Amino acid sequence: VTVGDNEYRPDFHFTPRNNWMNDPNGMVYYAGEYHLFYQYNPNESVWGPMHWGHAISKDLVNWEELPIALYPDNLGNIFSGSIVVDNNNTSGFKSGSESPLVAVFTHQNPENNKQTQSLAYSNDKGRTWTKYENNPVLVNNDKADFRDPKVSWHEGTQKWVMVLAAGDEIMFYTSSNLKNWVYKNSFGKNVGAHGGVWECPDLFKIKDVNGQETWALLVSINPGGPNGGSGTQYFLGDFDGETFTSSQSETLWLDYGTDNYAGVTWSNEPNNRNLFMGWMSNWSYAQNVPTYSYRSAMTFPRTLHWQNSNGKSIIISKLPTEIIYAIGGKVVENNNAASRFELLNDETLGGGKFYLETTLDFSAINEAKIEWGNKSSSVVLKYNKIKGELILNRAESGYKFNNLSSNIIKCPYVLPDSNQLKINMLVDKSSMEIFLNDGERVITALVFPLAPFKNLEITANEEIQFIEQIKINKLSK
Ligand code: FRU
Repeated sequence: VTVGDNEYRPDFHFTPRNNWMNDPNGMVYYAGEYHLFYQYNPNESVWGPMHWGHAISKDLVNWEELPIALYPDNLGNIFSGSIVVDNNNTSGFKSGSESPLVAVFTHQNPENNKQTQSLAYSNDKGRTWTKYENNPVLVNNDKADFRDPKVSWHEGTQKWVMVLAAGDEIMFYTSSNLKNWVYKNSFGKNVGAHGGVWECPDLFKIKDVNGQETWALLVSINPGGPNGGSGTQYFLGDFDGETFTSSQSETLWLDYGTDNYAGVTWSNEPNNRNLFMGWMSNWSYAQNVPTYSYRSAMTFPRTLHWQNSNGKSIIISKLPTEIIYAIGGKVVENNNAASRFELLNDETLGGGKFYLETTLDFSAINEAKIEWGNKSSSVVLKYNKIKGELILNRAESGYKFNNLSSNIIKCPYVLPDSNQLKINMLVDKSSMEIFLNDGERVITALVFPLAPFKNLEITANEEIQFIEQIKINKLSK
């Protein structure tokens, strides 16, 4: 059976019209527009000489693809990086009435794979880009892997800060003009996961519900993710403008799924949110998934928050629900307690596009599962209270792209005293993004069913009322 690309192309997640995409880059908000740049090969649907593709959105759901922003040049290909709005013209790049947008990216020399950092700027709201004549601005002859600069403004020291991935460490640099960078410190020895190379760091302040602040450092790692291949870990700690310190001893994962990589947050976000987006794939199979005209989608945007309670300091991830409700037409609502829930051959699942919200009560049961699919295949999400573990099984979900897709995705999670498990899940044809208890755990995974999903069932190991609430929104644009 072959299923066309359009059956898999998501409706609510960014995909390039054609060809290959990986990491989100240069995410910045300016003049009413969310900009998304991305690692892009315009010639093939596999990785190749990297460019920065470009798309804009006003609402984070409808994206307009614009012309390619950055092309390879004599210094090399254009690897990942970030963009800042230089409101005070510290760079001197301003030429008109708009604030300059300054891109800080990695040049990769294809001959020797040498990586250096360079600048480009735009004075017309990101529409056209000029590379800085004195590129590169940062060179390091000792490090082979030296890439993915994420730049932000540090209020306390009134300086720009750059975090950069170097091998399996993060290096910190500062600058007053974005052109001259001074090395300050490194972070990462003896902490966190080191099963692969560190990539695409991000550093930002993050708040809890009471407005208390701490610092977060995101670090993508490949391989060595929690369920194989690519993954994103994070550290919570302090940052004084030069040095990041953390007393965290556990490795913490932003997402337990296989398909959320290289994600970072938006710069200049108008509502001061830590608005995040990742590449929804995994280097273990990204180039082999069964879409051919295009490859890869981004995750749905998420907001990141700090949760510091019961002795646990973690990042929680939430879908901006106002966007979900803007695209969701409510079709099923059932607030009555039930011992099972079933939709069979049901068109309300929108051909595999739906948003499920359910609260399950585990006081009297040990195990419950949500299974969705079609006649021939299904995906199973199962929580076991005794094991304190959630598993996602997509082995029988359709197209198998490699052994990682047949493996069970495991996510350790111990229920709170309430014994309640709230599950929010966004399914968009070929992906599912699952949030447990308001984002304490997230699982993002791809799936390539051979027919659209039409069935959904929620059952437990005993016939007892355990479904406290269920709501399914059919999604439409
Ligand atoms: C992460 C990454 C980055 C690099 C880019 C190249 O997926 O390997 O480290 O800049 O992709 O496309």
